[in-house]
Amino acid sequence: MDSSHMGNDLENVLFTEEQIHQRLDELAQDIGRDYEGKDVLLVGVLKGAILVMADLMRALPGSVPMDWMAVSSYGSGTKSSGVVRILKDLDTDITNKHVLIVEDIIDSGLTLSWIRSNLESRSPASVEICTLLRKPEAAKVEIDCKYVGFEIPNAFVVGYGLDFDEKYRNLRDIGTLAPHVYS
Ligand code: XMP
Ligand code: MG
Repeated sequence: MDSSHMGNDLENVLFTEEQIHQRLDELAQDIGRDYEGKDVLLVGVLKGAILVMADLMRALPGSVPMDWMAVSSYGSGTKSSGVVRILKDLDTDITNKHVLIVEDIIDSGLTLSWIRSNLESRSPASVEICTLLRKPEAAKVEIDCKYVGFEIPNAFVVGYGLDFDEKYRNLRDIGTLAPHVYS
């Protein structure tokens, strides 16, 4: 395992594991209150949202089912184009269900905006979004996101499920990458 210098690859820690957990607990309280008496299906977007899902769902009251989608966004490098292909669709029929999409990060918003309209076309009772991070300065489309963990500057971040070239997902904190990693 090539992990000897992983800690040094982060330039700035933006959020520690403790801060992330605390914020997710707060969001879970809001979500628990808003969906009281209703069944909600959590829909995670692979792979970045795995840890957000793991911690958010355990902070929610009651028994909450989950499902996953995997999509690929045609684009160059780290930029998404908004042209999306489904790699793995939901296992669940969401007709008449309350769907809460769980995401790691909203950057341009193009991917999530596509996913949202795709799910809305399946006649669910409702579709809302919960994202741990959002970059307001990078937005290319307006997205109505009901639950946002943290707003962050327009920098590339890794850790807590977020990757650079499939690396750093397992870092406990979220931080910006040091230039020596990608230059
Ligand atoms: P859009 O631009 O469509 O893209 O909102 C959302 C997806 O792009 C990835 N993404 C990132 N991944 N650090 C990452 O590790 C970042 O700073 C970052 N910005 C965007 C991510 O997969 C997200 O779902
Ligand atoms: Mg993602």
